[in-house]
Amino acid sequence: MRFPDERLSLTNPYSRQLRCDGRGRTSDDASDEAACPGPLIVVSNRQPYRHEYDDADAEDDTERSVTVDEPTGGLTAGLDPVCKRTDGTWIAWGDGSADFDVTDDRNCVSVPPDSEGYTLHRLDLSEAAVDSYYRGFSNRVLWPICHGFSDLLEDRPTDFEWYRTVNERFASAVADHATDDSVVWIQDYHFALAPRLVRDSIPPSATVAQFWHIPWPAPETFRDCPAGVDVLEGVLGNDLLGFHVDRYVENFLECVQRYVPNATVDRDQRLVRYEGEPTTVVATPMGVDAASFDRRARAADRRNPSALLTDAVSEETVVGLGVDRLDYTKGIPERLAALERFFERNPDWCGEFTFVQKATPSRTEIPTYERYGEFVRNEVERINGRFESGDWKPIVYTEEYVEPDDLCALYRQADVMIVSPIIDGMNLVAQEYLAASVDCDGALLLSDRTGAYERLGSHALGIDPTDTDAFARRIAESLSMPRHERRRRMNTLRHRVFENDIGSWMDSQFDWIQSIHEGSSSEAIDQDPDTDPDSPEYTPRV
Ligand code: ADP
Ligand code: F6P
Repeated sequence: MRFPDERLSLTNPYSRQLRCDGRGRTSDDASDEAACPGPLIVVSNRQPYRHEYDDADAEDDTERSVTVDEPTGGLTAGLDPVCKRTDGTWIAWGDGSADFDVTDDRNCVSVPPDSEGYTLHRLDLSEAAVDSYYRGFSNRVLWPICHGFSDLLEDRPTDFEWYRTVNERFASAVADHATDDSVVWIQDYHFALAPRLVRDSIPPSATVAQFWHIPWPAPETFRDCPAGVDVLEGVLGNDLLGFHVDRYVENFLECVQRYVPNATVDRDQRLVRYEGEPTTVVATPMGVDAASFDRRARAADRRNPSALLTDAVSEETVVGLGVDRLDYTKGIPERLAALERFFERNPDWCGEFTFVQKATPSRTEIPTYERYGEFVRNEVERINGRFESGDWKPIVYTEEYVEPDDLCALYRQADVMIVSPIIDGMNLVAQEYLAASVDCDGALLLSDRTGAYERLGSHALGIDPTDTDAFARRIAESLSMPRHERRRRMNTLRHRVFENDIGSWMDSQFDWIQSIHEGSSSEAIDQDPDTDPDSPEYTPRV
């Protein structure tokens, strides 16, 4: 197993007790976070834990050992702590080679491994289903459309029908678990049709909510979405629909207004009525488990620095860092172009500054992604070939798995973090970096096209990832920024990340769900209690 027990307990800073009725928190709980008003059922495509056989050559399964890993991505990283706090059931696609050898006869397993946890219900999807639903309609249609890459849209013949079939399967799994007061919390664009199917198959007193983790595009872009009206009608099956930022809420409401003529849209109340049923639409930006990143980063101090760094750079080297899935939305080639320009214009930094890019291959069966990965690797090689000298390389690139503790060590050691998506619904990596910057001496370069920019943009160094010259100047600026200025910015940024962490996001979700449960959805809830810290150095209570 990759994760020791210590890691599992560290990610859960809250005390919790299990109850046999599936409601995680009890009246004995000391914490004052908002509680889920009923037994929670989370639905997502990606599962939080994957069981894999790690010895493909063994004769039979009994000889093979099973490892458990946590798939890379903001959604699972964010929601696992939520589920640990609330208990309940998580329904997801089981894509690991050993997944169904560790589940019971209902395809359920308790996670996290080796600790008392919540129930993971895995769905076994055929290769044809996965190819069309996940690699097809989800990631060749909705992903590019929602991120404004209409030119990458591929509308293959059977993808949408499979997407519907898989949404039906998830909806039926939800119905198996749902009770009168269940809260069904559906995640992301893989399930645009499921909310209506779920709504029609569970008791009316149960609540159906969805969080859309990626952007929602303007109507002019959404117009190109195949089966766009089905998508909108499906999503309007929710009682509550959440996005990260106001802009996506506005875009969604405009799309409904334009493409679902039978719906009534109240832009002020952010309320849609369709077929007599209301959907409340809210902007609730997601945060990270800041206390856990802070703690792990502090612990990293007592250990050796990240092996990745000790192997690649000397102690004096100034370190820049990028951590991303290899996805065309993440702006990695643009970042490399800016780094190349930076070294061209600032030769004195050659030998002094190294950029570490930690990349994770993603959706590689889709040729666009495969080509993207290849392009990134080639660019790194080319730029390194151009500037490297002796033992020094401008870019250290790795696709190797990095343990969470090591990732925190890397975050802590990075003098500059570069987050440069062309577009990103939120971007949790930026927030993780800030939470782990316990020495308050790092700087964040942040694309102004991320959801995270809305909250962090005033104190990060904003960049337009496509403006190579200005981007390169920003890198230079970050490296020469006086220490007190880094500290000043970092304090405020850390404060914002801690004040708006995953716990507060979850509270806002459950506050909304509760108000909808009670039929008072129009009540306003303060969603952005940003205030700058008074203290000269922000140290969270952890
Ligand atoms: P996305 O959801 O598009 O992948 P986010 O930045 O919101 O992007 O979330 C990414 C999550 O996955 C973060 O929790 C981050 O720590 C993790 N992650 C991303 N890339 C890597 C990587 N190369 N190595 C380890 N973890 C990664
Ligand atoms: O956050 C957006 C998202 O698509 C998540 O839904 C997903 O878990 C993550 O990115 C990683 O992508 P994938 O699950 O396709 O590997």
